[in-house]
Amino acid sequence: MALLAPSILSADFADLGNDIKTTAESGADWIHVDVMDGLFVPSISFGMPVIKSIRKTTDKPFDVHLMINEPIRYIKEFKEAGADILTVHVEACSDTKATLEEIKKAGMRPALSIKPKTPVSEIEEYLPLIDMLLVMSVEPGFGGQKLIPETVDKVRQLRKIIDERGLDVLIEIDGGINLENVVDIVKAGTDVIVAGSAVFGGDVAEKTKAFVSLIK
Ligand code: DX5
Ligand code: ZN
Repeated sequence: MALLAPSILSADFADLGNDIKTTAESGADWIHVDVMDGLFVPSISFGMPVIKSIRKTTDKPFDVHLMINEPIRYIKEFKEAGADILTVHVEACSDTKATLEEIKKAGMRPALSIKPKTPVSEIEEYLPLIDMLLVMSVEPGFGGQKLIPETVDKVRQLRKIIDERGLDVLIEIDGGINLENVVDIVKAGTDVIVAGSAVFGGDVAEKTKAFVSLIK
């Protein structure tokens, strides 16, 4: 059993509030919100004013994935905008420990992400400080890419480490997840599934329910 966190990056921005309401009412657990700065990743998405405005559309937790350099600069702002879970990239922080501690201090759940080529050894020391580890299964920056299969081995490796150490850390996966591969990905030990184009690229209610029926 896993949670579903649809990524609004692939939603219809002209009708964002309704797309969020539809997926939430169809069984989505969290709303995954991708923030990109054009530096850590090539693309720019949206920032705090948009998050603040869509915060009113649902009570579901906002799972905010920061693809920005030195996210420690903006932690309070994301809390004020309405983030519940705040994910930062280990590759984007000059002081990862301090960044995670600031997130917790601000009253959010701290989470850490790794890009496909970053080894698990780079984040092992931070596991006791986080609520969730986000495994990127595509290079971050764009929706609609194909999952890199080796990243699923990373989920298995992490599952083993987290269970052996008796830690309470969720594993989330993000990028290229669809109705065909999601069952195997849950079986590998994933707790939270992010899906963008596979939810918002079609009939949002129908796609959300199809995911929910496969992962619950
Ligand atoms: C990519 C983002 C993802 C993206 C996933 O950098 O972090 O959340 O929206 O999109 P799909 O599910 O289409 O790969
Ligand atoms: Zn994301």
